[in-house]
Amino acid sequence: MQNQSPAGKRTAFVTGASYGIGAATALALARDGFDVAVAATRVENLADVVAKLTSMGTRVVPVALNLGSHSSIEQAMATVIDAFGRVDVLVNNAGISNRKAAVDITPEEWEAVMQTNVTGTFFMCQQMGRHLVGGGRPGSIVNMASTHGVVGLAGRLIYGTSKAAIIHMTKMLAIEWAQHGIRVNAIAPGTVETPSRAVFLADPKTRETMLNRVPLHRFGTAEEVAAAVRYLVSPEAAYITGHTLMMDGGLTAY
Ligand SMILES: NC(=O)c1ccc[n+]([C@@H]2O[C@H](COP(=O)([O-])OP(=O)(O)OC[C@H]3O[C@@H](n4cnc5c(N)ncnc54)[C@H](OP(=O)(O)O)[C@@H]3O)[C@@H](O)[C@H]2O)c1
Repeated sequence: MQNQSPAGKRTAFVTGASYGIGAATALALARDGFDVAVAATRVENLADVVAKLTSMGTRVVPVALNLGSHSSIEQAMATVIDAFGRVDVLVNNAGISNRKAAVDITPEEWEAVMQTNVTGTFFMCQQMGRHLVGGGRPGSIVNMASTHGVVGLAGRLIYGTSKAAIIHMTKMLAIEWAQHGIRVNAIAPGTVETPSRAVFLADPKTRETMLNRVPLHRFGTAEEVAAAVRYLVSPEAAYITGHTLMMDGGLTAY
């Protein structure tokens, strides 16, 4: 294979990287010297982050990924492994949200969120696990959970249940793969001001209600979450696995 990442160069694969936390994470890892593969359902949405990474001199591979399709997951991971020769770090950031009263949730809505957030995240981890275990290489995975996976909130049932599954999946994989030198951690952000949350947070009343629940009385930034990913995949975090880092301004400290 040609032009693969040289030995000693670390490589990362960040899903849901077109904007928000995923884009900030791709840029933060690039600043740490990683070659970075970025994925989104609509590959054209990656143009901005790809341009930024390229201007930093980073080797970047954009890939299409639909977490609702097993063949898309296999294809995306194969594309990245083929391009870089190996993947050292996987950041399972992509996910979808849902706001609906429990009594109104349809089977289709349940299925869509579970398929993307839980099934998709697991099979991305499985692909990465096969790659690392098969190659006898250590590696690191960070899964994006949410405070909704830890504490209850009306109207967030499917999303919260999917994120709780990600937190538990993280522990299970951390234990199973520790013997292979693979660390698996999660981050559970509170509200982070990303483009996908902009409409929701534009309503002043909603904003105030949400802020009043946060002891630090502000929302998080994508860059703050990205900094936590950087730490969790770094050698400084070599003794951390199976952990979910709460990043919520103290929301879940009550
Ligand atoms: N923002 C917050 O307040 C907050 C709080 C807690 C947790 N989180 C979690 O943090 C992660 C990132 O959140 P965000 O707000 O930065 O962005 P987001 O809007 O939640 O995620 C956007 C990214 O996910 C991709 N994506 C959506 N559906 C996908 C699918 N089926 N397959 C593959 N990729 C898919 C999108 O690609 P396309 O654009 O091409 O569709 C986009 O790149 C999510 O897992 C979210 O649940 C966010």
